[in-house]
Amino acid sequence: MDVIGNTIRIMKVGRALGIIEELLGPGMFSSSCMAPDLYEMMAKSAIWPLVKDPPKRMVEIGTYRGISSAVWCQLADSVTTIDVVKQRETTAVWEAVGCRNLTSLVIDTSAATKRAILNGMNFDCAFIDGDHENVDFTKKKGEHETGPALDFECVAKCGRVLFHDYGQPNPPGATVLERYIDTIPENYGGKVVVCPNFAWWFSEENLSKGGLI
Ligand SMILES: C[S@@+](CC[C@H](N)C(=O)[O-])C[C@H]1O[C@@H](n2cnc3c(N)ncnc32)[C@H](O)[C@@H]1O
Repeated sequence: MDVIGNTIRIMKVGRALGIIEELLGPGMFSSSCMAPDLYEMMAKSAIWPLVKDPPKRMVEIGTYRGISSAVWCQLADSVTTIDVVKQRETTAVWEAVGCRNLTSLVIDTSAATKRAILNGMNFDCAFIDGDHENVDFTKKKGEHETGPALDFECVAKCGRVLFHDYGQPNPPGATVLERYIDTIPENYGGKVVVCPNFAWWFSEENLSKGGLI
């Protein structure tokens, strides 16, 4: 086990979160903010798959103010983050943390654009935190045009996908997003592992390579 490498990566994440906290101030640590979840993620080791097997290229859907992507930049060789809206604060966050391994794309809302971009990219890990609604449960695998189901279809090929917003404060299965995540193993195989407020999906192949351990 790469104890020193793992320790350095966890410390880099802690440093990034500290800088973001200082930059955006305590006001950002409201219930609607991602940063406390990221601290909790470290404490609960939901971050472990990223620490012990750092992605070469990680894709994020849902950039918002750039907090989560600034954290992924501490772990992955490179990060591409995608959103349909550009926020004012993102550049300041990435500059303060020193994210030089990050590409930010602002795209239109069409499924065709998202599919074309992600089909053309190689990556080995993805984070989904974009549109949390708009799942048509009558559609089959490969047919989705909106929401987290479309996003998952576009990134599932990478074999390990992390979702935000599974578990708390709602009981499991209370939201559209949670209900969709629950359907993934029956359509894609593999396993969903819940670490509130996150959920990982690992493909069979990733599990057989020791994705969870
Ligand atoms: C909860 S925020 C993401 C927070 C961010 N991951 C963080 O922790 O700092 C959700 C983001 O998803 C974006 N979004 C909404 N619909 C989307 C879509 N169809 N594709 C990509 N991003 C989308 C929103 O514009 C918003 O910036």
